[in-house]
This record gives sequence, C-alpha cells and structure tokens, in this order.
Amino acid sequence: MIDAGSSPRPLVATCSRGLEEVLADELRALGAADVAPGRGVVGFSGGLEAVYSANLRLRTAARVVVPLASGRVADRDQLYGLASTVPWQDMLVRGQTIAVEVAGRSPAFANTVFAAQVVKDAVVDRVRDRQGWRPSVDRGAPDLAIHLHLSDRLTAIGLDSTGEVLAHRGYRPRGGPAPLSESLAAGVLLLAGYDGTEPLLDPLCGTGTIAVEAALIATRTAPGVRRRFACERWTGHDAGLLAELRRAADGERRDAPAPIVARDRDQRAVEAAVRNLEAAGMSRWVAVERRDALDLELPWGSGGLIVGNPPYGKRLGETEQLGGFYERLGDQLKQRAADATAWLLVGNRELANRIGLRAARRIPLFNGPIECRLLKYELYRGSRKPSQSS
Ligand SMILES: C[S@@+](CC[C@H](N)C(=O)[O-])C[C@H]1O[C@@H](n2cnc3c(N)ncnc32)[C@H](O)[C@@H]1O
Repeated sequence: MIDAGSSPRPLVATCSRGLEEVLADELRALGAADVAPGRGVVGFSGGLEAVYSANLRLRTAARVVVPLASGRVADRDQLYGLASTVPWQDMLVRGQTIAVEVAGRSPAFANTVFAAQVVKDAVVDRVRDRQGWRPSVDRGAPDLAIHLHLSDRLTAIGLDSTGEVLAHRGYRPRGGPAPLSESLAAGVLLLAGYDGTEPLLDPLCGTGTIAVEAALIATRTAPGVRRRFACERWTGHDAGLLAELRRAADGERRDAPAPIVARDRDQRAVEAAVRNLEAAGMSRWVAVERRDALDLELPWGSGGLIVGNPPYGKRLGETEQLGGFYERLGDQLKQRAADATAWLLVGNRELANRIGLRAARRIPLFNGPIECRLLKYELYRGSRKPSQSS
C-alpha cells in the first residue's frame, strides 16, 4: 500500500488520446520523475506526495492510478489469477468497501461488467481467505476504488487515487447536455501555448468551459483544490500532507495578468457561462458578452489568442447549414483578427475545410468518442496570406 513512508513507485496518469505530450509536460513541471508518455496514459514515479500533487494540479489528466499488477489475460480464469496476486488484504480494514471501474476494451471481455465482477470476486476471495471477512461493493463511495484497464495486449489492475474523473473540477453540477470536457479544454489551451500572459477570446463560449480553464491557468489556480479524491479513503492517507499541499497550491495563486473574454450569441449560453465562472470563483477574471462571432472584434485591438470550439451538426442538414457559418467565420478571422493566432477545435473535417484558411497545425484530439482536430491559424494583418506551413 502506498503511504507517506513508502519509497517512490511507478504511477500512471490517464488522459484522453492526443493529450499525452501535454500531460507529460505538466508532470515534468510538477517535478515528477521518469515521465513516459504512452497511449492514453503517461507513466511517472513518486510516492504519496506525487499522487496528491498530481490530483490537485494536473489539468489534462483523467485519473491518477497506482499500478498493482499487469499481464496478458485471455479469459476469466487468467483475469481472476492476475487479480489474486495483489495483497488486497493489506489495503483494506474490516468493514471497508470496494468498487471496480473498467476502462479500455479487450476482445476477451466483450462484457466489461463481467470483467469487473471477476476482479471483485478475486479481491473478496483473497481478503476472506487471509482475513476472514468479505468487503462489500459500494459503487458510489468505495473505500478502495480499483481500476481495471483492459486492452488486447496488457491488462492492468491498479488503485484509482482520483475517484470522480479530474475533469470534474467540482464547480459545475454534472448531468445535462455534455459540453467540452474540462481536461480537454485545458489541453487545448496548453497546446495553444496559453499561460495567461496573452489576451484570450473564446467567441463561441457555450457554457464557458474554455474560459474557466483559461482563468484557472492565468491565475495559477490548481484545478483540484476544490474537490476530494478517492485516495482520501485509503488506509495510508495522510490528511496533514494533503492539507499542506492544498495550502501550498493556494499560495501560488496570482491575479490574471491579461484579459480573458468569452462570448456567445445565445443568451442561455451566456447565462450558463456566467454561472459556471461564478461557481468556479473565476468571474472576476473573465468578461462575458453576448455577441455574434460573425461580428468579430478583438477588444484589445490586435494580436492575442482566439480559442474556440464551433458547433458541428450531428445531422446532415445541420452540417450543410453550418458550412456557410464556417466560411464566414474564416472570413472574419482573416479580416478582423489581425496578428492574432486562432485555435479551433473542430469535430467535422468537412466543416473544417470550409473555414478556407490554411492551418499551420492540425492536432488530432478526442472529445469523448468524437475524433476532432485542433486547428491553428496564424492570422496576418493586411493582404498577407495566412501561413503556408504544413
Ligand atoms: C460546441 S458549442 C461550444 C461549447 C463550449 N466550448 C462549452 O464548453 O460549453 C458552440 C457554441 O457556439 C455558439 N454559437 C453558434 N453560432 C454562433 C455565432 N454565430 N456567434 C456566437 N456564438 C455562436 C453556440 O451558441 C454554442 O454555445
């Protein structure tokens, strides 16, 4: 079990695909050792303090997991065998509860609920055999959250230190229509090189996810300081150390050094953005305005960053209609955003082409299951053409 006295051990931060490098940079900036990006994960090493710091401070990670066992698993018995190698009895005290969450996919387990049950059985059997009691399952608030990662190659079992994914910063009620995930919004900003020192406009702000993340970055606010983590229920949890790290993170906060502006043409979106910024304690740093993106204007004159995620229609008719909007948005960027750099997260390739500007970069990112492109446009004053680089 990982506790304050234990020596550094391998850890893993998970993320959505496309964010591995930016998450690796975040981990390096935290001083993490042995940072190694993989596919949807970044390995690093450390002890309990590293686990706490990662949960408190990482903007682009989904979870921080302590790997416990991994191997090739082709059927139920092999998965049970792998899970049985872990000394679960050392991580639980009598009466504590468990839950198994599953990520990834494996042809051996089309039914992931079944795979979770197999691991649960192995945990219960091992604790019963060694300690004479049976942990029960509590999916809502388990004392030990067990993470099972299935893949067609290595299957991994670990302890989830995070609980509810890190994208849930704790300021926004969950449920309702899903906007952009907070960790993806932060990833987009970090990929755009945003550090709070340049003025920023999101002309299509919706519920304000990008604006909130920008304000958190600009004010150097650790995104996890307002929420709790699964590791706070571990038997080795050090409440004093976590409180100290929360205080230290709080002490690093600063005023946002440059303007942040969030706009949408829809009044309900504007209201939602205002609500979310207030709930996140960030409203002081963001000006929210109702304005059409097709009447683009940079409040600071020229330069700065434009970051946004335009609507992409799900139905054919909508996509066709939106084509004209993308064309006009491209024209606005070219004509009215002199010397700015624009980054647009677009979920539809056909619509992206309608922007009509040459993208200086195209970064593949996943917004849930939707494969998107983050497109960079370097905008130049006057008649100069946008960058021709690939
Ligand atoms: C994909 S959503 C943005 C979601 C946002 N990133 C969030 O986290 O909630 C696109 C937004 O663009 C807005 N929008 C569409 N056309 C617009 C226009 N012409 N001017 C300004 N906003 C517009 C919509 O109202 C919607 O809120």
